[in-house]
Amino acid sequence: MQLRDAGFPERNRDLKPAHIAIIMDGNGRWAKARGLPRAAGHRAGVEALRRTVRAAGDLGVEWLTVYAFSSENWSRPKSEVSDLMGLLKMFIRRDLAEIHQAGVRVLMIGERDGLSRDIRSLIEEAEALTAANKAMNLVIAFNYGSRDEIARAARTFAEAAAAGTLDPAEITPEAFGQFLDTRHIPDPDLIVRTSGEQRLSNFLLWQGAYSELVFMPCYWPDFGPAELEQAIESFAGRERRFGGVVARDVAL
Ligand code: FPP
Repeated sequence: MQLRDAGFPERNRDLKPAHIAIIMDGNGRWAKARGLPRAAGHRAGVEALRRTVRAAGDLGVEWLTVYAFSSENWSRPKSEVSDLMGLLKMFIRRDLAEIHQAGVRVLMIGERDGLSRDIRSLIEEAEALTAANKAMNLVIAFNYGSRDEIARAARTFAEAAAAGTLDPAEITPEAFGQFLDTRHIPDPDLIVRTSGEQRLSNFLLWQGAYSELVFMPCYWPDFGPAELEQAIESFAGRERRFGGVVARDVAL
């Protein structure tokens, strides 16, 4: 990276996000622009995901979270939902060995109860096989939506309170965070969204309270190592204050 040449302040030159979360958007528009069916866009999206996982590993990113299927995506046509389910299965079946060999730990966030038994067992298999890996963490947000995640956490909390095992006075942001799907995952430093849209679409709303946001014009299937580096460079030029006045050094 040539941050000095890009005019970024020197003190941020080596600032790297430990956790990058990506909203992989624009598969449909990518396909449409080529006169292809949406399914072809999603397939190309899986290729981009493969490239990005490799690039993130090469760049020393510790955590990579990708938004692969939202709790709202069920409202898409049945055939598209089925394509996306099929792609997750194919991704795990085809790529798990390489991912494992590269030392990547796979985790999934989202509501598992709504998923078919075969998808759930593939996810469990991927998590179990890679559980001890240390090179990088790949978090797949599948059947995930922040509001659903927060509501599930609140339900668990309320049930414990009703059972008398938890005092409502103990509800602090830290304690509540322990009920979220991300309890063992650090908050994202950087959230990237492709395709030019500038919104979070129910993605990591709690965890992203202080994340830097980078919106990129390219469609997800065109994303790769160069775009990932560009997003990281953009992050390095930001001053993070976490609500305070002095920039806090969050370099790795
Ligand atoms: C948004 O593009 C993308 C999705 C809803 C799904 C993301 C899925 C992938 C990248 C491939 C699948 C990967 C796995 C591991 C399942 P869009 O369809 O909303 O595009 P549009 O806004 O241009 O229509």
